[in-house]
Amino acid sequence: MQETTNTAEITRLPRALSCIQPTGTPTLGNYLGALRNWVAMQDSFECFFAVADLHAITVRQEPAKLRQQTREMFALLMAIGLDPEKSLLFVQSQVPEHAQLSWILSCHTQFGELSRMTQFKDKSAKHADNINAGLFTYPALMAADILLYQPQYVPVGEDQKQHCELTRDLAQRFNNLYANTFVVPEPYIMKTGARVRSLQEPLKKMSKSDENQNAFISLKDDTDTILRKFRRAVTDSEAKVRYAEGKDGINNLMEIYGAITEKTMDEIEQEFDGRGYGDFKTAVGEAVAAELAPIQARFAELMKDKAQLDALMKQGAENASRVAGRTLGKAMKKLGFVQV
Ligand code: TRP
Repeated sequence: MQETTNTAEITRLPRALSCIQPTGTPTLGNYLGALRNWVAMQDSFECFFAVADLHAITVRQEPAKLRQQTREMFALLMAIGLDPEKSLLFVQSQVPEHAQLSWILSCHTQFGELSRMTQFKDKSAKHADNINAGLFTYPALMAADILLYQPQYVPVGEDQKQHCELTRDLAQRFNNLYANTFVVPEPYIMKTGARVRSLQEPLKKMSKSDENQNAFISLKDDTDTILRKFRRAVTDSEAKVRYAEGKDGINNLMEIYGAITEKTMDEIEQEFDGRGYGDFKTAVGEAVAAELAPIQARFAELMKDKAQLDALMKQGAENASRVAGRTLGKAMKKLGFVQV
């Protein structure tokens, strides 16, 4: 009887990859809608998570700020619970294979395909004075980020679905033109993610670029700020905590509270039966502050030791480069580049 079965082979988990740009501090919406799910995925997927700093320069960045924000985002990913022992965490620009495969993929992407990307249309309208080629070819870089690691799943929000579809098309195109090289990945739209909305205009998504600071909770907001922002959140005049159509402000607060306490809407209605909005808002604020406090403490701890942080990045980049290098080498060979 053969006893030496390779357990690593048998227990191999499906792979997942996602990236986040280091532009500004994520909001409670980013956390409850996406980042927290990344943490949960670590046990059932072999995960790759990157800070997409190459993507960030498609709009003008200030060098010192980009440097700071990249370190902060890397630290924040660990602070929320992404564990470098379980997942591969890295910074995109430290793995040169991304830029290399991106060139190859951009030569297989049509002008028409890129022109149809809604994010390009939005961003070029917003930055009309800097519609650079990188902004246009951004989806080819994103496809490279993904395809280099051969993941089956790409956890993303709705707004990135179109880029994931293009990634699938590019993988299939390359595989058909040359030889089977890339896994064709699927977007993994997170069902459990809460859809957190603006605290001031609850029909809009919560956004870190909102001009009204009271509209969003930043993961860096301290307890007082959090409590104050929830106290000022827009509600309605019914003064009854119940989940119903037209009560967008209260619905949003209930969803936030539910996402953190794991209570259902019914349970929340019961808990606040006969109590006013003031009580409810305080409870939501306190729950959010309690969830964020330990994250903020770990973040502060990680940011104190820059040498250790950079060493973790370096390790991540080396490990990522090993995986990415294998895929890139295969693609270059299939394409007809001379390998010496
Ligand atoms: N484009 C994504 C965003 O703006 C970030 C990103 C870059 C990404 N590369 C990726 C997401 C690869 C998933 C997979 O949110």
